[in-house]
Amino acid sequence: MSTNAKLAAFAHVNHLAIPLPPDAVHEIVNHTAQDDERMWMRMGESVWSRPLLFNVTQGWWVNLTKATATGIVSRHRHPAPVTGYTLDGSWGYLEHDWVARKGTFIFEPPGETHTLVVHPEAGHMLTLFHNFGPVLYVDEQGMQTGFEDVFTRLARYKKHCAAVGLGEAFVKPIIR
Ligand SMILES: [Fe+2]
Repeated sequence: MSTNAKLAAFAHVNHLAIPLPPDAVHEIVNHTAQDDERMWMRMGESVWSRPLLFNVTQGWWVNLTKATATGIVSRHRHPAPVTGYTLDGSWGYLEHDWVARKGTFIFEPPGETHTLVVHPEAGHMLTLFHNFGPVLYVDEQGMQTGFEDVFTRLARYKKHCAAVGLGEAFVKPIIR
């Protein structure tokens, strides 16, 4: 089948697609390869976040984390689980001896406290993280010094989008 015929068949299937139930929320399709730099929010020295989905109904969010230099990103406790899929570079946690590289998937259980570091092997990283709940920032003794939940992260990103000229409305399509 030619490419055109395949595209035509796809369009035909699309036309016949069973519609979403009326109360369903809409899908999100985000082509981040076409991002411009303003869509990345600075989180610290050489660390950026590109939010992809804020779930304000269930309290979780998905984002890309990018770091461009070796070093500690942050120490925090997860009351809810987190998953990560490494797209590029190398990173890990001071509390674990494994190194995440391109293609590494991780699951961290609720109760996990860790210190995210960019591993010197590559000296940079790009990872897709799904935070299933809030993050508690802690000191070296594990005592809480701050927190982040879907609402604080969302507010931060709105402020960022306004400041860089994207406007707060840029965030709306990735809230569910
Ligand atoms: Fe974490």
